[in-house]
Amino acid sequence: MTVIEIENLRKSYHDRPAVDGLSLRVERGEIFGIAGANGAGKTTVVECAAGLRPYDDGTVRVLGLDPRTDRRRLLQRVGVQLQEAALPDALRVGEAFRMYASLYQHPLDWRALMDEWGLTEKRRVGFASLSGGWKQRLFVALALIGDPEVVFLDELTTALDPLARRSTWDRVRKLRERGVTVVLVTHFLEEAEALCDRVAIIDRGRVVTAGSPQALIAEAGTDSLDSAYLTLTGRGL
Ligand SMILES: Nc1ncnc2c1ncn2[C@@H]1O[C@H](COP(=O)(O)OP(=O)(O)OP(=O)(O)O)[C@@H](O)[C@H]1O
Ligand SMILES: [Mg+2]
Repeated sequence: MTVIEIENLRKSYHDRPAVDGLSLRVERGEIFGIAGANGAGKTTVVECAAGLRPYDDGTVRVLGLDPRTDRRRLLQRVGVQLQEAALPDALRVGEAFRMYASLYQHPLDWRALMDEWGLTEKRRVGFASLSGGWKQRLFVALALIGDPEVVFLDELTTALDPLARRSTWDRVRKLRERGVTVVLVTHFLEEAEALCDRVAIIDRGRVVTAGSPQALIAEAGTDSLDSAYLTLTGRGL
């Protein structure tokens, strides 16, 4: 079952196209990676699909819903971790969980979620006092609080230490086991190779190629997704 269908999406900022006729489909239960250069349009695509940014043209359906007209219903069924997110400085971790849980009709048990993400010991710490990696973990956990069917993770592990990165990968795999669909923006091709069922490489607002990590590696004739990415983008795709 297709849960995300994007056809010919276009979005410009001040007349400069950020997303320029992009199409992709994501199936239920996939971990779908999006990779591409800085400024390629990845975050814009995620924001448009999640109902957080208006777009200019094209068709977007997530869980059969139109993010432009069904935004409220969509936001109950998706979770989003944004690349640049912030909370009030003094808001404590525990308070953030409680506040986010109150936004959803059927939230998960936020105390259990806080525990699972190792944040219980930080529950009395104010947002501004958290290190970058802990802020990132907090936002990933908060994206899951509404028990979403689709999760958008924009740079899941950028700030995480190697151990936290591995345990985050395990938790993302557990989401897939439960049938949750995950869209993962990442600059770590090693992460995409380890985690993703399929990966789309985006350049200048379009998908230049998409497929399983193995298919992209075969297409490039390399031995890892990292070098496949360099080969495929270096060919001027
Ligand atoms: N709010 C905005 N106002 C104006 N221009 C924007 C805005 N957001 C993004 N852009 C521009 O749109 C283009 C795509 O940006 P986007 O953030 O979607 O890229 P990205 O692929 O997520 O990049 P990165 O890997 O650096 O996160 C860039 O040229 C960026 O400068
Ligand atoms: Mg981005």
